[in-house]
Amino acid sequence: MASIKITLSIILFLTISIHSKAELGLLKETKMSFYYHDYAGGPNATTIEARGPSTEPLSFIRFGASFVTDDPITEEIEEGSTLIARGRGTYVISALDGTHAQVVMSIVFINGEYKGSTLEIQGSYAQFERLNEAAVVGGTGIFRLARGYATYEVLSYDSVSGYSVTQSNMTVLHY
Ligand SMILES: *[C@@H]1O[C@H](CO)[C@@H](O)[C@H](O)[C@H]1NC(C)=O
Ligand SMILES: *[C@@H]1O[C@H](CO)[C@@H](O)[C@H](O)[C@H]1NC(C)=O
Repeated sequence: MASIKITLSIILFLTISIHSKAELGLLKETKMSFYYHDYAGGPNATTIEARGPSTEPLSFIRFGASFVTDDPITEEIEEGSTLIARGRGTYVISALDGTHAQVVMSIVFINGEYKGSTLEIQGSYAQFERLNEAAVVGGTGIFRLARGYATYEVLSYDSVSGYSVTQSNMTVLHY
């Protein structure tokens, strides 16, 4: 009798685990590499201070300063190359000494195979370091339940125009 009970519970357990596996499927790993083009100034700025547009130069080291950004993201490094997504979000200078910004951003895919999906990025960005890393904390569309990480490297920055190009590689696990 006892052994029948045990067999039954094992069968039940196997059924439950097979069932939940079938529901969630297997995790896929997607790697991608992009370039963010940021214009921190000028008539077509893609980053402004949240208090509103101003003719004064932006200060990126004032604790508490908040910025809104809508950067074009491309697969090629060239300015004006085919748009794949936009990096839409906010960052707030979150270190007293101005070294770090808290970034909360959606990568909104508007072209290509991920069109209509988004990835959510969050992290503490060491803005004077060449290399940075942030977490991928979620996503929508084909990236539902996503998690992963994104690395960043500023490849060029023009202090006169405010134009910068940042390369980002992402590794994302999703169903
Ligand atoms: C800003 O955008 C307008 C409209 O797309 C364009 O004609 C103009 O050349 C741009 N200006 C700069 C400085 O990029
Ligand atoms: C992205 O990956 C390429 C190719 O592996 C590498 O050369 C580059 O340094 C990486 N950049 C970042 C920011 O991780």
